[in-house]
Amino acid sequence: MILLLGASGYIGEAFAKELQRRKTSFMSLSRKETDYTNFEKLLDFLDSYEPEFVINAAGYTGKPNVDACELDKAGTLVGNTLLPQTIAHACAAAGIPWGHVSSGCIYSGAKISENEKVRVENDMTKPELHVLAENKSAAILGYNEIDAPNFSFRDQPCSFYSGTKALSEEAIAGIGQSYVWRLRIPFDEFDNKRNYLSKVQRYAKVYENVNSISHRADFVKACLDTWELRAPFGIYNVTNPGYVTTRHVVEQIEKYLKPARKFEFWKNDEEFYRQAAKTPRSNCVMDVSKLLAAGVKIRGVEAALEDSLINWKPE
Ligand SMILES: NC(=O)c1ccc[n+]([C@@H]2O[C@H](COP(=O)([O-])OP(=O)(O)OC[C@H]3O[C@@H](n4cnc5c(N)ncnc54)[C@H](OP(=O)(O)O)[C@@H]3O)[C@@H](O)[C@H]2O)c1
Repeated sequence: MILLLGASGYIGEAFAKELQRRKTSFMSLSRKETDYTNFEKLLDFLDSYEPEFVINAAGYTGKPNVDACELDKAGTLVGNTLLPQTIAHACAAAGIPWGHVSSGCIYSGAKISENEKVRVENDMTKPELHVLAENKSAAILGYNEIDAPNFSFRDQPCSFYSGTKALSEEAIAGIGQSYVWRLRIPFDEFDNKRNYLSKVQRYAKVYENVNSISHRADFVKACLDTWELRAPFGIYNVTNPGYVTTRHVVEQIEKYLKPARKFEFWKNDEEFYRQAAKTPRSNCVMDVSKLLAAGVKIRGVEAALEDSLINWKPE
């Protein structure tokens, strides 16, 4: 039996749906039933029910967006850093392997291959880089699992949310056996205020950048596959291979959904941060070679995006 923490959340419910589809025996646990944020209570629960694997899909995401985390720093730290550390210790004490939903938002930018050298570029909004991104240039490389986070408390600026997510990876490193699955900007065909494709349609103006993104069902399938395949424990970037520009996402929305509205873009970062955002946003490209090398199959971002829009289910 698998124990699923945070099943009531946006990502947790996708895990529950996929576990049901696979007919994998699992049990969901909410803080309302047992306060799994408490070490003794969680360890008691693990000792009583003896799950073979634990999934941590719980965490503190600011609502409606990460700006909210700046107003509740203690809550953000508790939900995103201390909770995974507690789970790591409880699972280690019970001898149970587990998986933690982390985030790709601990990076900014991409790696650029130029003149046989690779350099880090934090700002992909530079016009020359945008041309590369629009042309899907092979010169744009993603961050891999060995690259140190560059949008974190140790490498500022970062949002408080991203800082706590990066810190969670440090907090659980070396404790027991775990997978760290890095999710990035979830989307799918189900219109929902948490879905990236819904957000893009509802923003007053759209922020243009370059990102790797994760189809929600593809993400949970890939995470469960790492466990089913008994891939080596460790960190895995779990996005659909490739990246998208926001402009391309808007073009695909216009093509498939034919919305009545016209999309406008923020002129530049200065206008975006003055009018629409309080804390810095992470935009980044991820490298999923490690996930693919482990034998996990996940479709490319273009196919996942088109499929979501073709099968779009309005709320
Ligand atoms: N959604 C995204 O855009 C995104 C992107 C990258 C990474 N992630 C990560 O994915 C995980 C799940 O995110 P989500 O979008 O599914 O979040 P969500 O919809 O807000 O659900 C999170 C669940 O976590 C549980 N929880 C436990 N401790 C909590 C705390 N201190 N504060 C708030 N909730 C707490 C709650 O379940 P109970 O109270 O029922 O136990 C809640 O339903 C998080 O770790 C998040 O950082 C999310």
